[in-house]
Amino acid sequence: MTTTSADELREEVRRRYAESALAVERTEQAGCGSGSCCGDEAAAATETSFGEALYDAEQRGELPDSAVLASLGCGNPTAVADLREGETVLDLGSGGGIDVILSAKRVGSTGRAYGVDMTDEMLALAQRNAREAGIDNAIFLKGVIEAVPLPAESVDVVISNCVINLSVDKPAVLAELARVLRPGGRLGISDVVAEDRLAAAERAERGSYVGCIAGALSQGEYVAGLEAAGFEDVEVTFTHEVADGIHGAIVKATKPASARRELPLAAPAQAGCC
Ligand SMILES: C[S@@+](CC[C@H](N)C(=O)[O-])C[C@H]1O[C@@H](n2cnc3c(N)ncnc32)[C@H](O)[C@@H]1O
Repeated sequence: MTTTSADELREEVRRRYAESALAVERTEQAGCGSGSCCGDEAAAATETSFGEALYDAEQRGELPDSAVLASLGCGNPTAVADLREGETVLDLGSGGGIDVILSAKRVGSTGRAYGVDMTDEMLALAQRNAREAGIDNAIFLKGVIEAVPLPAESVDVVISNCVINLSVDKPAVLAELARVLRPGGRLGISDVVAEDRLAAAERAERGSYVGCIAGALSQGEYVAGLEAAGFEDVEVTFTHEVADGIHGAIVKATKPASARRELPLAAPAQAGCC
C-alpha cells in the first residue's frame, strides 16, 4: 500500500466514525450515515455480533444511554482483561468511551483508564459520557494507535474493541502495544479476525475496510505479529462468526516480566564454524 492510499484509507475511517459519533449525539443508534461501519454489513451477523448486545444487562445499567448507543465493538474486552483495583488501563480506539468507563469503574479511584482515539467527534462524545457516568479517573487522548501518546512502560493492561483491524499499519500498532506495557503487562483485545484459509482479497470480498472486515488479520498473522513484537502466551480465540470465515475473536498475550536476555557481545567459538 502506498503512503497516499494509507492516508486516504485512514481519513475514510476517521470520517465514517465521526459521522457515527454525530448520529449518537442526535440520539440515534451508532451508524455511519452514508456508508457502513463495524457491524453494518457482516453478511452472517446475528443481532449479537456487534455493539451493545455484547455487554450484559448489569454492565449496560452502569452506563449512560449514549455510551451504550455508541458501542461499535465486536466483543467485550473488559470481560476478558480481568481488571484489578489500582491498575492503569489503555483502550486503543476508545470510540464513545464504553470500555474506558467500565474499566475506570473496575480499577477504582487508585487506578486510571486512558482512551486513545483519532476522531474528535468520538473524543467529545466519550468525554461527555464519562462525565455523565460520574467517572473522574478516565482520560481521553487524541492520537493514533500507531503512535500512542503515552510514555513507554506506563500501563498494566491494553484493551481494544474492534479497532486494530482498521489500522493501516498493524506492525506499528503491535510494536506500540509492547512499548507502552510495563514488563509483565497484558493484552485483552476484541477484534475481527479471519481464518488462515482466506487470502487478503477473499477477506475484502466479504466486507469493506471501514466495516471492519477487509482489514482483518488472519489468526496466524495475529499470533506471528504479536510474537514478533515480543509477546508470549499469545492466544487468538474465535468467539462468533460474523461472515464466512471471519470471526469476532479474543486476543490475549503477555509482555515478558523481565527484559529479554541480552545477547553475548561475542558468540562463543564453535569448532568447525564459519
Ligand atoms: C469500530 S469503532 C470502535 C469504538 C469502540 N472501541 C467501541 O467498542 O465502541 C472504531 C474506533 O476506532 C477509532 N480509530 C480507528 N482507527 C484508528 C487509529 N488508527 N488511531 C486511533 N483511533 C482509530 C475510530 O475513530 C473509532 O472511534
